[in-house]
Amino acid sequence: MRHILNTKQFSKEDVANILERTYKMEEQCKAGKVEKLLQDKIVACIFFEPSTRTRLSFETAALKLGANIISAENAAANSSSYKGETIEDTSKMLNCYADLIVIRHPKMGEVEDASKVSDKPVINAGDGANQHPTQALLDLYTIKKEHKRLNDISIAFVGDVLNSRPLRSLVPLLLLYPGSTFYFVSPKELVLPEDYKKYLVDSKVNFVETDSLEEVLPKIDVLYMTRVQKERFTNLEDYEKVKDSFLLKLEHVSKLKKEAIIMHPLPRVNEIDSVIDRDPRAAYFRQAQNGLYMRMALLCYCLNL
Ligand code: CP
Repeated sequence: MRHILNTKQFSKEDVANILERTYKMEEQCKAGKVEKLLQDKIVACIFFEPSTRTRLSFETAALKLGANIISAENAAANSSSYKGETIEDTSKMLNCYADLIVIRHPKMGEVEDASKVSDKPVINAGDGANQHPTQALLDLYTIKKEHKRLNDISIAFVGDVLNSRPLRSLVPLLLLYPGSTFYFVSPKELVLPEDYKKYLVDSKVNFVETDSLEEVLPKIDVLYMTRVQKERFTNLEDYEKVKDSFLLKLEHVSKLKKEAIIMHPLPRVNEIDSVIDRDPRAAYFRQAQNGLYMRMALLCYCLNL
């Protein structure tokens, strides 16, 4: 039984094992021959924040593997959390019903608190601006598939560098491989938080902070666009000032290397002009598709199957 809470928990060997399982899941899906490894299991998907991809891909993954699902898609309003029940008590209840629990929560650390009282595996489907480990694993799988390597990757995270949980989750995974260079491109209001910068400095990471997208485009293998996260702002006037800081247009894409890829965890709001979707370097929908295979692999991994 394993929880998935934070990408810092994984060794390089763990990641290799997960990537290999994901590849097998992809092959099985494409061949229409998925082994029903989760038959008779019940997966609980409890989301205190909105989601399209994470919840629905976890549910699809569980169904493909033969599991049944119980879920609360708007748990803040429709579970007893609304009446004041703690995350620990919610977790204890879910332990009575499900074999595995997937939770998204707006508060940093809350999913880990749920895991501390759980005898069943708990998967963090995103906790505030902290972690989104399953997103980062599917991102890593995507980079490997598209570039055929994980060493020597130059990646630019663009937009809401302050609040991006995919960024915080993907960086430790890429650091397992030698030669990564990170560019953090943001307006001054959304720069890296000091604690994360300290982690990068302490880890001797090769990184650059800048507000110039043009400057980094020709240097990178992966352009990782992020949405400015309205839900993390306490003052909407501050959000209005920065919400359209970086809109990727065709003129930008022409400056990218031929083999570079464009990623985005989605949903996008106003970060990528939709005409770019036709460029073969636009990998964001392939990335989301990989989320299904990754989450199938992770359900099995957590249950030791
Ligand atoms: N990338 C991602 O987490 O998308 P959802 O918020 O739709 O789950």
